Amino acid sequence: MGQVLSDEQVDRYHRDGFLAVPGFVGPDALASLKAAAEHLVDAFVPPERPTVFTTNEQERVSDLEFLQSGRGVWCFFEEEAFLPDGSLGQPKSLSINKIGHAMHDLVPEFEEFTYTPDLAGAVADIGLADALALQSMYIFKQPLIGGEVGCHQDATFLSTDPITVTGCWFAVEDATLQNGCLWAAPGGHRTPLRKVFKRLGGPGPEGDGDGTEFEVLDTSPLPTPPDDLVPLEVPAGTLVLLHGLLPHWSDVNRSSTSRHAYTVHCISAAAHYPDWNWLQRPAGLPLRRLDSAADQKVSSR
Ligand code: FE2
Repeated sequence: MGQVLSDEQVDRYHRDGFLAVPGFVGPDALASLKAAAEHLVDAFVPPERPTVFTTNEQERVSDLEFLQSGRGVWCFFEEEAFLPDGSLGQPKSLSINKIGHAMHDLVPEFEEFTYTPDLAGAVADIGLADALALQSMYIFKQPLIGGEVGCHQDATFLSTDPITVTGCWFAVEDATLQNGCLWAAPGGHRTPLRKVFKRLGGPGPEGDGDGTEFEVLDTSPLPTPPDDLVPLEVPAGTLVLLHGLLPHWSDVNRSSTSRHAYTVHCISAAAHYPDWNWLQRPAGLPLRRLDSAADQKVSSR
């Protein structure tokens, strides 16, 4: 695996806890991923009680569909997608908050986008040479109703011992102050993990119905948006690498422009992955290394 990032970029990542790499992905790859995401939404038949995604309310992220989505493909609605009578206020295609969380292993276009030598190399350059692709999300940040994602550390939601979770965030569309770009706290990756999110049941389907809880580890407050954070306005095709302890946030999108992004969260294969993590995969769908050879890919079998 050759070096993908420059020494200066690696130094900046370790200094700030994040790094934006413009031009990491070309327009054709972005278009293919976007079309695949839109196809998944088209094909999605909502249940009678649709699943809403928010990081601001514990009860809602404890939904059964959320726990099951770690090993599947599920569409989550924006909180503001619904009118008072329960119907959608806009077409379904403009109502979905995100798709999660195993597209990288179940949908060929996502798999092609994720398991690349360039991404494996970039992640190796910042210290994760044995990265496993743990979860994927396609985030729409829809026009007018795109929800806020409260300030958090990714290690709260994807826990390993030691902490190794690393976020790979791709701008599929331009991310701006107007449409709800990422914000991050430079150097905040050198502060403690505040809390962990745990499933209450055991691993696997039998534990999906028992809900989740937060366990507080450190009571020092996270930075307050937006004053304690800096905006990461980046053009489409940019990769943003995020340390698992870095506090980050994104605002609501009240503009008329969507802000699509794709994220892959990786962990070290050598780290311990507790079975109280909300995301549990069955034996038949094992995690794969980011540098998996082409002949190991699902779409090539
Ligand atoms: Fe995050």
